[in-house]
Amino acid sequence: MAKGGDGAARPLVFALNGSRVELAEVDPSLTLLTYIRTRTGLRGTKRGCGEGGCGACVVMVSRYDPRTKNVEEITVNSCLTLLCSLDGCAVTTTEGLGNQQAGHHAIHKRMSGFHASQCGFCTPGMTMALYGTLRKSGSKSCNKPEANGACNLPLTAAEAERAIAGNICRCTGYRPLLDTCKSFCADVDVEDLGMHQFQNKNELPVYDSTRDPVFPPFLVEECEARETSSHDNHNVESAQTNGNGIHHETSEVQPRFKFSDSADAKDREKVWIDPESLTEVLKALRTYQGTEVKLVVGNTASGYYKDIKPNVYIDISKVDELLALRKTADGIEVGASVTISNFIEFLESVHGQESKATTNGVAGKNSATSVPDVLAAHLKKIASNHVRNWGSVGGNLMMAKLYNFESDIATILLGVGAQVKVVSSGSGGPVAKSTSLEDFIWNSALENGEVLQSIWIPLDGASSQDGSRVHFKTYRAASRPLGFALAYVNAAFFARASETVHGGVKLDDVRLALGAFGTEHAIRARRVENHLNGKSLTWDVILEAVRLLRSDVVPVKGTRKAEYRVSVAVSFLFQFLAPLLKDDDYVSKYNGLLSSGKQMITMTDEYYPVGQPSPKMASELQASGEAVYVDDIPAPADCLHAAFVLSEKALAKIQNVDVQPALQTPGAVAYISAADLPPNGQNVGVSMGALSKQGLFATDLVECVGHLIGVTVADTYDHAKEAAGRVKVDYDVKSVGPPVLSAKEAVERNSFFPVHFLVAGSFKPLNDITEGFAAGDMKLENVKVVTESQKHFYMETQTALAIPDEDNCMVVYTSTQTPDYVQRTVAEALGIPYHNVRVITRRVGGGFGGKVFRGTAVAVACALAAYKLRRPVRTSLDRNTDMIFIGGRSPTTSTFSVAFTKDGRITAVKAQVLVEAGYEQDFSSFLPGDFTHAFKKYNYGAVEIDFKICKTNLVPKTAMRGPGQTQGSHLAEAVIEHVAARLGLDPEIVREKNFHDVESLKKFFGEGAVGSPESYSLPAMWERLKDSMNWVDREHKVQKFNEQSTWMKRGLAMIPIIYSNLSASKSAMVSIFADGSIVLETPGVEIGQGLHTKVRQAASFALSKLFPKGRGIDLSRFRIVQMDTISVANGGVTSGSTTSEGCCAAVQAACEILVERLSPVYKQLQDAAPDGDVSWESLIAKAIYMVDLKVHHRYAPKQFLYLNYAAAASEVEVNLLTGETQILATDLVFDCGKSLNPAVDIGQIEGAFVQGIGFFVTEGVETENGRELADGTWGYKVPTIDTIPKRLHVELFNSPALQERVLSSKASGEAPFLLAGSVHSAIRKAILSARKERTKWISDSKPNDPDLGLNDFILDPPASIDRIKKLCGFDNVESYLASMASSVEDAKSQLHCIKT
Ligand SMILES: Cc1cc2nc3c(=O)[nH]c(=O)nc-3n(C[C@H](O)[C@H](O)[C@H](O)COP(=O)(O)OP(=O)(O)OC[C@H]3O[C@@H](n4cnc5c(N)ncnc54)[C@H](O)[C@@H]3O)c2cc1C
Ligand code: FES
Ligand code: FES
Repeated sequence: MAKGGDGAARPLVFALNGSRVELAEVDPSLTLLTYIRTRTGLRGTKRGCGEGGCGACVVMVSRYDPRTKNVEEITVNSCLTLLCSLDGCAVTTTEGLGNQQAGHHAIHKRMSGFHASQCGFCTPGMTMALYGTLRKSGSKSCNKPEANGACNLPLTAAEAERAIAGNICRCTGYRPLLDTCKSFCADVDVEDLGMHQFQNKNELPVYDSTRDPVFPPFLVEECEARETSSHDNHNVESAQTNGNGIHHETSEVQPRFKFSDSADAKDREKVWIDPESLTEVLKALRTYQGTEVKLVVGNTASGYYKDIKPNVYIDISKVDELLALRKTADGIEVGASVTISNFIEFLESVHGQESKATTNGVAGKNSATSVPDVLAAHLKKIASNHVRNWGSVGGNLMMAKLYNFESDIATILLGVGAQVKVVSSGSGGPVAKSTSLEDFIWNSALENGEVLQSIWIPLDGASSQDGSRVHFKTYRAASRPLGFALAYVNAAFFARASETVHGGVKLDDVRLALGAFGTEHAIRARRVENHLNGKSLTWDVILEAVRLLRSDVVPVKGTRKAEYRVSVAVSFLFQFLAPLLKDDDYVSKYNGLLSSGKQMITMTDEYYPVGQPSPKMASELQASGEAVYVDDIPAPADCLHAAFVLSEKALAKIQNVDVQPALQTPGAVAYISAADLPPNGQNVGVSMGALSKQGLFATDLVECVGHLIGVTVADTYDHAKEAAGRVKVDYDVKSVGPPVLSAKEAVERNSFFPVHFLVAGSFKPLNDITEGFAAGDMKLENVKVVTESQKHFYMETQTALAIPDEDNCMVVYTSTQTPDYVQRTVAEALGIPYHNVRVITRRVGGGFGGKVFRGTAVAVACALAAYKLRRPVRTSLDRNTDMIFIGGRSPTTSTFSVAFTKDGRITAVKAQVLVEAGYEQDFSSFLPGDFTHAFKKYNYGAVEIDFKICKTNLVPKTAMRGPGQTQGSHLAEAVIEHVAARLGLDPEIVREKNFHDVESLKKFFGEGAVGSPESYSLPAMWERLKDSMNWVDREHKVQKFNEQSTWMKRGLAMIPIIYSNLSASKSAMVSIFADGSIVLETPGVEIGQGLHTKVRQAASFALSKLFPKGRGIDLSRFRIVQMDTISVANGGVTSGSTTSEGCCAAVQAACEILVERLSPVYKQLQDAAPDGDVSWESLIAKAIYMVDLKVHHRYAPKQFLYLNYAAAASEVEVNLLTGETQILATDLVFDCGKSLNPAVDIGQIEGAFVQGIGFFVTEGVETENGRELADGTWGYKVPTIDTIPKRLHVELFNSPALQERVLSSKASGEAPFLLAGSVHSAIRKAILSARKERTKWISDSKPNDPDLGLNDFILDPPASIDRIKKLCGFDNVESYLASMASSVEDAKSQLHCIKT
């Protein structure tokens, strides 16, 4: 055990950004993230999920090994890393790399220069992930502390891209982030990268690794000293080994740290033990038998198993006997505590040696599959690089064993026939026993007191014998191709193949391991193995094998996507065996990750500097962690923390709420509910004035799982959360009847909200529907199209800090898109005037609509608690609570009928749309207006849509990027695709047939919305896109590809959009100070959309009118301050894409007033100046005493509704065996008028498009009895770098100047989201091709059967891996094999006939 010189426990010592930290008392359960965020002034390390799934918390950990004198540098998720594990380590956060005063790091600067930061919440984590990769690439050859990584960077583009594979960005769409990463590579030309601020390579901020933080010399010294003392202790204690490399026990177990947050409760004591030998580990286990013990290596399991709260932590990460990593002649031994990354590196080095031997001719041409290489490749898909760097092999296996975790490692090691060594204490000392991994996982009990020591991987089977060849392959199917997502099924197959005398293939030693398919543990498919062993392979044999496999792979009852998992297990076996009989495209040839992007813009100087791609304001500060978000504001004295108590039932009466157990939690202060509202306060969670109101707390009745019942308040968030979990609510479900859990049930029970009167007029019938139906030649009736919800998954969860002020006032800092609503709602809840409430929002870490309405309740709850307790109260919701409480996009179920002519012209559409709202109306009752607008993108002749807003007992759905319009646009495309399918036409032909002309456009949208005829740019853009992307040629190539490929099918599709924007009326305040610096204030909130950047450009342009040559005022003179409701009254919402332009217009007008005031002064100075030149400073210095240099102005648009046009084409490749999709390319053209800032607009377009990919492809939601199942990063999969298009071309259409728009611009925030529908349509085409292929194998295909038929199938978004596979055929492998087998039979019988 770690002791100081005097025998007392040594304090914890580590370095944080170079400074020494020494802690004598530490809570063993304290994570590095909590430590950094609550005990230091550093705020760059963010909490996005707290479960290892987002990368916002990534930091670098450096460890010095006194024995080798090497420093190992790795990135880790600080949310999973226990502080006590960091003894002797150096931690570097993004602040440690540089800052504004000392100068930013090259990564910070490039993040800014490549426009890679929008809301900026992910940026510090991205920075550290990239930094880790840069250091690693340099440190490969120079990892001594004194070298400080001063080597050339041999980083390849592929490695650079993978740097951020374990990080999520919800704003940018990753392309600029990937470009930033690639800009550091030697093999990349900066000219080939996307838009950036650097004229050429020489302008790139230089990365000088010699200036990187060094491993602190004081820690080197301390580590050396510790090593010596431990060595001495070791000698003194004269440890003996028992032949297994295990030391006999010698001394007493002494916890290094003991901590309790309660003097009264003994069971709350937590201890940390750091044994130095396995003997000490065993002793500690014996000592603490019967308590909740955790053997800690990386602690990464805590990201998944959050409820396991041990009392005893035994650190086994430094125990030598558990760190073996060696290769012998017949295998590899890996110690249980070896990290997955180190294991990968070792396997790769073994493979390297093997390859060398092979090229030296040792293994010969029949060399076996390299087992180490295959294992390493699979391991790289486990979790993220940050988790792999810290998590261990043994920890993973133990999760599989103890908790039935869906482990990959267990499966692949089962596939290689691994053995494990387990040690326990025996009477004569430690006893080791070896057993098979299978037996270990399935059968042995692993008593409390046993330790997994190591794993043995035999390699004897991998060498070639008697001309036979070993085949070893591993597989996994997951929602993200690169990993960072648990597998739906994984597999590892081993076989020895030899040639038969007849030239066939015979298999022996077959070992088939499969896991994660809904099984307790990974299994061996023994019946299939027996069937294959010794057999000569034929199609019949494979067919029988996959049939047998289906009966071996049986998911347990309740497994999600069970049928999919089984069918993919079958596919994997087929992929393993079929290549031995026939070469084919069983895997995609297109395997590269490398993505590229091109942006085409036309810039003008007309409104200079408006229109310039200037970098986003504060983006360097975002990267370096200096940008302050609400949760970064230092806690005021006496600050308390609040946590939500949410309903567990979908519909129930609250019989009783027992808060006593909660209040006994250490640190608990209060429970706040509706009963605590002041006498004149209202129970209101969001007040939109006259528009609508929503409740705050449930009182007698809970109406959904996730309904807010109350909040617990405590000294820390963890205590508040624990207390919330202890509030005992008694529900009565009987007296209220069953809940309404779907739109269908709402219809059955007549449970509806009214459509909001403000939008009711916007979906009036157009033209005579009866005549329209009569005009068509054909009809499709009652086709059902469903869109699901989508979660916002902004990286910064809902956050608020409420501080009571004098005279019944309240100051609220909150992460909201609507400070105005927060002000009103807090005031109404507290029963005080609006002017008593000051709401301040500086920046928001992503909103996407989720911080407009529902999030208001978070601030109100804090404010109420603060009001009642007269103390500051804050909260930052944990990811799970946030995802449950905030709801998401409104799901819709549409049923349409359509009439059309034989050539594809639509004459009438009639639809009924059910909008699932939840138990409150929120945004849903406004949704019909938006839905209809986007639906009307085609000229259908006559249209009639009827909406029903379904009131259910689900969490209220709210606005989410492109609300309503996303669903409406999708329905329009579904109509087109079904018409095209029925006619056997290409959907693009039907699209073109039904484009609007200007007249029909005016009729559908109104003259004012359309504006000047030349502004209708869609037809021109459509043609432009077809031309620039080579539509005809690409379509031909796709067709050819599909003809030649059996198992991979491609699809290419192109869609248009018309998006309706509602111009925003906004105000602005401009104040000029004596030194010429300027402050701009607008009600718009900077949510990552670049509002501040654009507003600054607009102000500079407007003030430049003072000067004869119209030179812009230097952008650095402007500061844009936080939104403050006391300063900017009645600010309204930041949403709907048009806040930026509204604020620009208001600022422009305010500046023009200033220009008017300043002009006479300017004239005076000009007349007096010899050269007539007047500087800005001299003008302001004089004017300050002559005119009022502060102006407030409100802009009111003349025309509210206007239209965005755009088109996109996407090409995808679908894998028929697994259902996986790769987006090969997207080309899109977008008309945002004269862009206010092309860098910002391109960022919005790319980011929205990728978020749209989430909606249309990856992001599935599920509820069970009203409970959200996807409430975190484990279940909810937003796009990552491997799910974006491999090539993304974006063109800003050079549209004519639009005088009626703000500075001739149009919005770009939401419309591009809808363009991701092109990916969905392309997937549909690829599936169609797959279904055509399948008809070759099955004789009884029925073209119009939705399950078996060819054309008329429904693909509802998201086009998830399982839905795609289902439509390609869960049984397509069997169908194929049966046809292959029967064609062989046919051939045989023909041969037989010929012979006879
Ligand atoms: C975001 C994320 C994604 C992931 N994705 C995947 C994935 O796709 N596929 C996959 O297979 N895994 C995945 N994992 C799991 C990951 O591999 C494990 O979390 C990691 O390997 C556990 O190692 P650890 O050292 O952190 O274990 P710890 O958390 O330290 O310990 C885990 C458990 O093992 C016990 N234990 C540890 N060592 C021993 C020992 N020697 N003897 C007895 N008991 C021991 C501990 O007591 C504890 O119960 C993911 C994890 C995260 C956080
Ligand atoms: S906060 Fe640590 S990974 Fe998300
Ligand atoms: S910039 Fe990446 S999450 Fe906002």
